[in-house]
Amino acid sequence: MQLRRPFDAHVHLRDGSMLTAVAPHTAEHCAAALVMPNLVPPVTTRAIAQAYQARIADAAPDAFQALLTVYLTDGIAADEVVAGFVAGDWVAAKLYPAHATTNSAHGVSDIQGLLPVLEAMAEVGMPLCVHGEVTDPSVDIFDREAVFLKTILGPLLQQLPTLRVIVEHATTAAAVDFVQHHADRVAMSITAHHLWWNRNALFDGGLRPHAYCLPVLKRETDREALVRAATSGAANVFFGTDSAPHLIGRKETDCGCAGVFSSPTAVATVAEVFDNANALAHLEAFLSLNGPAWYGQKPSEDRITLRKQPTTAAAELATPEGPVRIFRGGETLRYAVSAE
Ligand code: NCD
Ligand code: ZN
Repeated sequence: MQLRRPFDAHVHLRDGSMLTAVAPHTAEHCAAALVMPNLVPPVTTRAIAQAYQARIADAAPDAFQALLTVYLTDGIAADEVVAGFVAGDWVAAKLYPAHATTNSAHGVSDIQGLLPVLEAMAEVGMPLCVHGEVTDPSVDIFDREAVFLKTILGPLLQQLPTLRVIVEHATTAAAVDFVQHHADRVAMSITAHHLWWNRNALFDGGLRPHAYCLPVLKRETDREALVRAATSGAANVFFGTDSAPHLIGRKETDCGCAGVFSSPTAVATVAEVFDNANALAHLEAFLSLNGPAWYGQKPSEDRITLRKQPTTAAAELATPEGPVRIFRGGETLRYAVSAE
C-alpha cells in the first residue's frame, strides 16, 4: 500500500547531539513535522526559532520540512508571537500550563493573563496548540485532561470565538467528545502509543518506565474512543507522535522522565491499529492529509510504502549521550515501512 508521506503534527526533536540522532528517524517516514518548542531555554523569540530551524536543517535531510512552534510564557509579547507567524518562523503557538510536563517550568501560570496574545493570534488565524492538562496536584492524574477541557479550554473558547485550537496528544473519550463538539475550529492530534496501549501497559508484570508519558495512558475505553476518532476520517483528527526521547538512564530511575520515543515505529503501529479496525481506507487521511490541511500546508507529493511483512523493531537507538528505548522495540511489527 502506498501513501503520501506522513505529517507528524507533534514531535520533540530536542537539540544538540540528540537532535542529530533523532531527526533522521522522523524524516525517514515523515515529509514534515510540527516541532515542539520545549527546549532549554524554550523557543520564545524569532531569533531562537530561526537558529533552531537552521540546526534542524543540519540534522535532517533536505527534503524534510520542520514547522516550528513558539512557546508561550506569562510575559511573552503579542507582537513577537504574531510577527513570527506572519514571517513564517513558526506556524502555531504552544501552551504548556506551567509545570505540566517535561521542560514546562517557563509555561503559563495564568491563562487569563495571556488573553491579549490569544486575541492577537485569533485575529491573524494563528492556531494554538494546547497541552491540555491541569496541574493542580489535588486533581487525580488520570482526570487532568478532562478537567482541563471542562474548566479551562471550554470557557476560553467562549471568550475567544474565533481562536483555532489543537488539543495535543488527546488521551481520553472526554477529549474526543469535546473536540467533536467544537469541530468547526478545534482539532486533536493522537499518538501511536495512545492508540496502542492502555494504562495496564504501565504495570505489565512490573513497573514499566518506558510506557510513562504525559498525558499518562488511560483506560481501554479511552483508547477505543481514540481509535474510533482516528479511524473515522474526520478532518480535525490527525497523527502527532509526541515522540519524546529520553536517555534510558533518565527513565529507569527513582523519578523517571515522561516521554515515549516512537518515531521509528509510530507509522507501522498506526497502520496496524487501522488494520485491526478495518479502517485502512482512512489511514492516509489520518497520517498524511488532515494534519497539513489543518496547518494550511500542502500534503506531501512523495510516498511511503507499507507492506504486510512482520518485522522486528530495534530495541534502542544509540546516541552519543547514551541509548534511548524505542516504542515497541524488540516486538514484531505487522507492517514494514519503506521510504518510497
Ligand atoms: C514530552 C517531553 O519529554 O518533552 N513528554 C511527554 O511525556 N509527552 C513533553 C510533552 O509533550 O508533554
Ligand atoms: Zn509532546
